[in-house]
Amino acid sequence: MFYPEEIVEEVRTRTDIVDIVSGYVKLQKKGSNYFGLCPFHNEKSPSFSVSPGKQMYYCFGCGAGGNAITFLMEYENYSFPEALEILADRAGVALPKEELSKEARAQADLKAALLEINKLAANYFYYQLKHPQGKAGYDYLRGRQLGDDTIRRFGLGFANKTGNDLYRYLRDKGYGDEILKQTGLVTIEERGTHDKFWNRVMFPIMDVNNRVIGFGGRVMGDGTPKYLNSPETRLFDKSRNLYGLNYAKSSREKYLLICEGYMDVIAMHQAGFTNAVASLGTAFTSQHASLIKRYTDQVILTYDSDGAGVKAALRAIPILKEAGVSAKVLNMEPYKDPDEFIKNLGADAFRQRIGEAKNSFLFEIDVLKKEFNLEDPEQKTRFYNSAARKLLEFREALERDNYIQAVSREHMINYQDLKKLVNSLGSRLGTGPEAGGQPKPSSYQERKKEKEDGPKKSQRLLLTWLIEEPRLFDKIGGIITPDDFKEDLYHKVAVMVFEDHARGEVNPAAILNHFINDQEEYKTVASLFHARLKESLSGEEQNKAFTETVYKVKKNSLDEASRTATDIAQLQDIIRARSELKRLHISLD
Ligand code: CTP
Ligand code: MN
Repeated sequence: MFYPEEIVEEVRTRTDIVDIVSGYVKLQKKGSNYFGLCPFHNEKSPSFSVSPGKQMYYCFGCGAGGNAITFLMEYENYSFPEALEILADRAGVALPKEELSKEARAQADLKAALLEINKLAANYFYYQLKHPQGKAGYDYLRGRQLGDDTIRRFGLGFANKTGNDLYRYLRDKGYGDEILKQTGLVTIEERGTHDKFWNRVMFPIMDVNNRVIGFGGRVMGDGTPKYLNSPETRLFDKSRNLYGLNYAKSSREKYLLICEGYMDVIAMHQAGFTNAVASLGTAFTSQHASLIKRYTDQVILTYDSDGAGVKAALRAIPILKEAGVSAKVLNMEPYKDPDEFIKNLGADAFRQRIGEAKNSFLFEIDVLKKEFNLEDPEQKTRFYNSAARKLLEFREALERDNYIQAVSREHMINYQDLKKLVNSLGSRLGTGPEAGGQPKPSSYQERKKEKEDGPKKSQRLLLTWLIEEPRLFDKIGGIITPDDFKEDLYHKVAVMVFEDHARGEVNPAAILNHFINDQEEYKTVASLFHARLKESLSGEEQNKAFTETVYKVKKNSLDEASRTATDIAQLQDIIRARSELKRLHISLD
């Protein structure tokens, strides 16, 4: 699993980061760099930069930064070897296979074989559906108003009544029992072998890369279980996949529609809502949420309108919120699910419901309200108190007030009274700002600014300067050495930067590779090469700014040296250096 540095470097040098990033982010050229909206945090104006010169990206908003490899690791959740393999493939670099451990190679081969078998099985099921033996399945799907295009797009199929024809088909293709067992498609026992799916319409489940990772099979009528699904296998992890995401990810809508089932996704796509995905009956997980967050930060929940669907929505809302995804809830009444809604009222009515989807907090209040009998004054009071307590979830005064307004409007509660109730409850519970509770944590940027102290900032400025204008190395000769970078990580980087320079060329993206195993570290390293330099300074201002930076770096270094000096001679050197430093003036011309 460990690739030698030369190979990593070869892949990296044959890869253009602008190429890679622009596959995901719309970039615009500005000067020598490209800018776009950061894919790692929400923003309205672009602070995400990609530098062809440094072969790095860096977000001035959230501090995300790295090279082409880390970009894929962060964006696609790839491991380092996975990202490297993708890039090597693109760049036409052959990776040494034997570098994978035997075990890892065996795992990879097994995974590839399982994918191949699933693909064969999906084709087999599709073939059956389109032939006389699959007529029952075909008629069933057509009866549910699916068109041929939809059937093809989703690769729907049919599993025959015969007990083990898929098994025999796969055996004929050369696969042995050992591997077939692991697909979850067949059961192999002493008594004989049979297919898991039998007399059902088949829904292949694809991952975001259109690879078939499992199946769902529906009984054609009222039998049980209604749906039978592939067991979790090496390929199929239900909590990490969303059905339909392979298509939904390239829909042009800003939000995803999340529903419960296969048929809902398919019906929505067929009606033109190609941004629909399903968590397939399993509870919505935080892995689902972070998968979604890679593509969007807005969803509309279109769960069934029954009790279970409401419960599922209530569960999903905080999970989504935690991942930074805001949710709305669509009202499906009087129908059970999107499939039935669209069948009965059509796409336009559904689109209208999307427009009317309810803010998730207000939805939660609606559900809460149903627990109380509002005819009874005591219960009514309890509802108000519960609503007020829930409103305290908003830590920011302005946001909270917006919700107090909305709740009072929707539930006919006097705004001033509700506000008073929330505030007094807040001070009683010690959570409101009025009660001196915890202030809302400041934004990431603000926190970062607070923490950043002077010397570190100067060191970052200097490193960035040296990277952007290598001729400046000559200007600091005899003044600054890597040892003047006092922060441990900064020092390591400075050593590499100076060594690279001595060898001829500084290669920031390559330096970053040394820190790739630790996300915090490589982000910091990326930030060292992206300090904000003031660009519009006049010549003399530039000289002054650069001199000041060098001065600060050196001064900090000398101060630290004098703190740790152990003899008089050392101290005298430091004193001399300090007084020389006072006269420092560097001209950049
Ligand atoms: N499900 C399942 N196993 C079951 C029942 C349901 O895996 N025995 C999953 C399926 O992914 C299904 C989803 O939960 O699509 C929603 O279930 P349900 O609402 O019961 O089915 P519908 O999607 O409405 O299916 P249909 O319209 O075909 O009746
Ligand atoms: Mn249904």
